[in-house]
Amino acid sequence: MDRFVIQGPTRLEGQLAVGGAKNAVLPLMAAALLSRGESVIDNVPDLQDVRFFMTILEGLGARCQLEFNRLRIDTTDLDSHEAPYDLVRKMRASIYVLGPLLARRGEARVSLPGGCAFGPRPVDLHQKGMRALGAAVDEEHGYIVARAPGGLQGGRFRFDPVSVGATCNVLMAAVLARGESRLENCAIEPEVTQLVAALVRAGARIEGVGTRTLQVQGVDSLKPLDDAVIPDRIEAGTYLAAAAVAGGRVHLEGVRQDHMAPVVAVLRDLGCDISEQGDGLTCERRGKLQPVRVETQPYPGFPTDMQAQVMAAAALADGVSFITDTIYPDRFTHAAEMVRLGANIEVKNGTATIIGTERLQAAPVMASDLRASAALVLAATAAHGITEVRRVYHIDRGYQSIEERLAALGARITRQSE
Ligand code: EPU
Repeated sequence: MDRFVIQGPTRLEGQLAVGGAKNAVLPLMAAALLSRGESVIDNVPDLQDVRFFMTILEGLGARCQLEFNRLRIDTTDLDSHEAPYDLVRKMRASIYVLGPLLARRGEARVSLPGGCAFGPRPVDLHQKGMRALGAAVDEEHGYIVARAPGGLQGGRFRFDPVSVGATCNVLMAAVLARGESRLENCAIEPEVTQLVAALVRAGARIEGVGTRTLQVQGVDSLKPLDDAVIPDRIEAGTYLAAAAVAGGRVHLEGVRQDHMAPVVAVLRDLGCDISEQGDGLTCERRGKLQPVRVETQPYPGFPTDMQAQVMAAAALADGVSFITDTIYPDRFTHAAEMVRLGANIEVKNGTATIIGTERLQAAPVMASDLRASAALVLAATAAHGITEVRRVYHIDRGYQSIEERLAALGARITRQSE
């Protein structure tokens, strides 16, 4: 297992190009199952989660090739409808194959994803949504077994709460269902909207792109996808937050300003200077950080996937910050690790109270999930001394070569194999 060794404190200075969004490419990869032939997806980041999803698709009989950020998925020889436990337990997003398999093959067997490092993550809406489209859905021996032997039938479904994954999954099933479907209270995260737009380009008939109500007229078949993944707003936000935590100036190229607005607003509240130029975004922190009040919300609210990184900045702010995660009230495993770095954080009832400190100190810490790990790496760049961040495989799932990118900005970080 690899770990990062980080010597702090360092200021960060320089520029980076943002990669394609992990959470956008995964549903697109699943959507490739909806058609027969070769889908081509560009701007695909070479991440562990992407490689992993390729394994799932290959297990279903698809052929996948990722070269120079272009991913080809050939579904001509699809011959299975099962996503087994050993794969699904490693990546929850595997559940994305449920809708496409059910729609295309009339049957899907997908292992229940099970627990998660940051608390319960139910998949009931995915199942209820498939039922609303006429499928029989049962849980058998740890598997979701969904059947629609005569094909899916259009239906009406309301997501409550708003769910990125369930919106994508049920929509992918609905586009090939007979007749009309109405999906209400849909997620409008940019990653979801990218999927909706990609399906429309492939021949799906969907009205309401980018809104909370999607009206779908089922079609008999779709063309393979031909798309390019949107920039990763969370990767971008993480490197901007790095400038806030460590101090300095980080310029990013290739962002979507509209997608960055909720994160930019909080970075400004923290006291950072943010400037926008075309698809470039610069974050500069000169003076002290200011305390913030942050509440995570579905898009266009502040993303739960940036909560931990902002906490690393709040740990060094001049005052008391409050961070509430309304999406995942238990997503605070990073708080206890940050305390090991000298941060002053108390978590109660889904809210972290962070009393800012002047100085963080190095300590060995352990990564528990993707964003928590990234936040620990940021905190370590500001901490005095040598910090070891263990279990960095979590980070590799969603950040391409984070240590090389931070090193290019001046961080003193190396990867070591244990
Ligand atoms: N929920 C239900 N029932 C369901 C599904 C969700 O009650 O069937 C609840 C969840 O418990 C949560 C809320 O709905 O309280 C929202 O969860 P959502 O379904 O939107 O999350 P997800 O689709 O499982 C995606 C991202 C996560 C990100 C969340 C929230 C992917 C692959 N994952 O998860 O990303 O935190 O949306 O924005 O897109 C990450 O990248 O680090 C990550 C965890």
